[in-house]
Amino acid sequence: MNQILKALTPQVQAEPESGIVTAAMHGFTKAGIIPFWSGQGNLPTPEAFSRPATESLLNGETFYTYQGGIPELREALARYHTRHYGRAFEAANFLVTGGGMQAIQTAIQMIAGEDDEIIIPTPAWPNYAGPLRIQGSRPVEVPMTFSNGKWALDLDQLFAAITPRTKAICLNSPSNPLGWTATKAELIAIRDACRKAGIWILADEVYSRFYYGGSRAPSFLDVCDTEEQLLLCNTFSKNWAMTGWRVGWLQAPKTLAATIERVIQYNTSGTAVFLQRGCVTALDEGDAFIVDQVEKARANRDTVVKALKNLPQIRLAIPDGAFYMFFGIEGMTDSMKTTLRIIDEANVGFAPGGTFGPGGEGFLRMCYLKEPSQLAEGLERFTTWLKTGHPI
Ligand SMILES: Cc1ncc(COP(=O)(O)O)c(C=O)c1O
Repeated sequence: MNQILKALTPQVQAEPESGIVTAAMHGFTKAGIIPFWSGQGNLPTPEAFSRPATESLLNGETFYTYQGGIPELREALARYHTRHYGRAFEAANFLVTGGGMQAIQTAIQMIAGEDDEIIIPTPAWPNYAGPLRIQGSRPVEVPMTFSNGKWALDLDQLFAAITPRTKAICLNSPSNPLGWTATKAELIAIRDACRKAGIWILADEVYSRFYYGGSRAPSFLDVCDTEEQLLLCNTFSKNWAMTGWRVGWLQAPKTLAATIERVIQYNTSGTAVFLQRGCVTALDEGDAFIVDQVEKARANRDTVVKALKNLPQIRLAIPDGAFYMFFGIEGMTDSMKTTLRIIDEANVGFAPGGTFGPGGEGFLRMCYLKEPSQLAEGLERFTTWLKTGHPI
């Protein structure tokens, strides 16, 4: 191996590329490709959210700023949560980060050291396990089960994975890639197990508003106290169509605010002020936009279910939330290989299920928050490819 590469830490050398990135890199320059691989909708950020950001920039807000976020945004986050979660939150509970990803990174840096373990039900978004391995901590993956058209989390199996090295249970609900959503009873059981073991709940609720059973999904905020071991990651990316802005937040007990600010200081030293100005407007004025996006997602979900559910080779669970369809193809044993073939042969791009960890192989993930005619065309291309007998 090249000497320069060998000089890197073993963890960084060993970390594989996310299969989502591999698929996107393979397909994104292909003429006419319909991409369903990445987790974002087709709509640009509403102008109403962008305008305060451009005005701020033009008005010269171009200097260093508060490491944990401007007070106006932290207060807007408190207002938003008080409005949607039915109890009072304070600005001190919210720390602004570089996207949801940096909220996750900040959280795991604070709670997991070398050889410490974080339990993750899988299939799961690969961006928990990757950063854990890079910092020398250990993701402990507990596969969920798929049967009779449903994904299920076996809580006994989940809690049996707790060891003296466990620092947290990481739960993403609604789930990327499954759309599976934890019930309030499941959240309570996880809360109780974490309290008993004295470990953290690492919650990722970035799809909380993309829920088809009500105005938002059941949340750890419904069942936990404000000052307990709960770190909750969230982002502007999904609800407000702001993936490219790279702004998110970490919600935590207020006792931790100063510590989290220090960790942010040594990672990014804070998020650009002008971006945060747009985020304030998104929170205060974005509810109608979210409702509209979720309705579009629900209609698209139904379109996808209708197109796939009667195909004999396909297995799927109807998602309760998020905006992904995770579907199995009978006989498929190498989802990466099949993903690349579908890109090449049908000009449609999915993400390979195997990249989402144990339990994910044999499945593909499709992000369906797309323009309906593009969705229909992509489904037509894929189902034709499948029906015309392509050996998997
Ligand atoms: C489950 C989950 N958490 C967090 C994120 C991170 O969001 P961001 O784009 O803001 O980093 C994503 C993005 O795909 C996600 O799917």
